[in-house]
Amino acid sequence: MSAPATPAVRTQALTRSFGDGDESVQVLRGVDYQAGFGALNYLVGPSGCGKTTLLSIVAGLLEPGDGDLEVLGERPQRFGARARAAFRRERLGFVFQQYHLLPALTAAENAAVTLIAAGMARTRAVERARALLHELGLGGRADALPKHLSGGQQQRVALARALVHEPQLVLCDEPTAALDAESGRRVVELLRAVAVRPDRAVIVVTHDNRIFDFAGRIDHMEDGRIVKSESRMPAAPETSA
Ligand SMILES: Nc1ncnc2c1ncn2[C@@H]1O[C@H](COP(=O)(O)OP(=O)(O)OP(=O)(O)O)[C@@H](O)[C@H]1O
Ligand SMILES: [Mg+2]
Repeated sequence: MSAPATPAVRTQALTRSFGDGDESVQVLRGVDYQAGFGALNYLVGPSGCGKTTLLSIVAGLLEPGDGDLEVLGERPQRFGARARAAFRRERLGFVFQQYHLLPALTAAENAAVTLIAAGMARTRAVERARALLHELGLGGRADALPKHLSGGQQQRVALARALVHEPQLVLCDEPTAALDAESGRRVVELLRAVAVRPDRAVIVVTHDNRIFDFAGRIDHMEDGRIVKSESRMPAAPETSA
């Protein structure tokens, strides 16, 4: 499939405040942001500058203030609640700083949740999730409950859940923060394999300079605004023998 004509995400003068009256704090102060298809888009910046807030708005989990927001060529805030939920479920995948795994389900069942929600038969969904967990280096832990997994393993289960239904836009908040170098590299390789497809887009919020070489674009955020955008030629993938 060829790349859609519009960017995957576009915001203009986007704002967001928390609290009322004198207590109100403006966290996004007019964000002009674009993320393209076919590349890994990184969003970086100091703690508290508004990265998770921006990602949550793009994900439709938080209401924007003023300004303009387009996601995959749509303005989801104009949809009704049901259409918005369907848009999120079918076309987006996300991994947030808290993983929100369901404690009574195994790793493979957790990762399969998005497919089951989309109507796939449970056995088939769990089988697909298992294959993805294997790619993420977690094949041996697919039947474990979250409480028996390390933080980094839980993070990879959350990532599998975000990718398994092949959404067009994947949003990741610090996907490698809890991972050692080898697991982090696997995660980014996988995200890049997703992102290089011309009809797919991936946005990664990160502080992890071990993975900067993989970026196609890096947007720098400070104090609620994008202050710099760099396009780059990402490092070539490692060829495996
Ligand atoms: N629900 C909320 N109510 C009030 N303030 C909030 C809320 N969510 C975020 N904030 C504030 O908004 C600012 C930006 O938060 P955000 O989580 O977007 O930062 P961040 O760039 O993701 O930081 P980090 O790198 O530490 O994750 C912070 O000052 C935070 O305290
Ligand atoms: Mg954050």
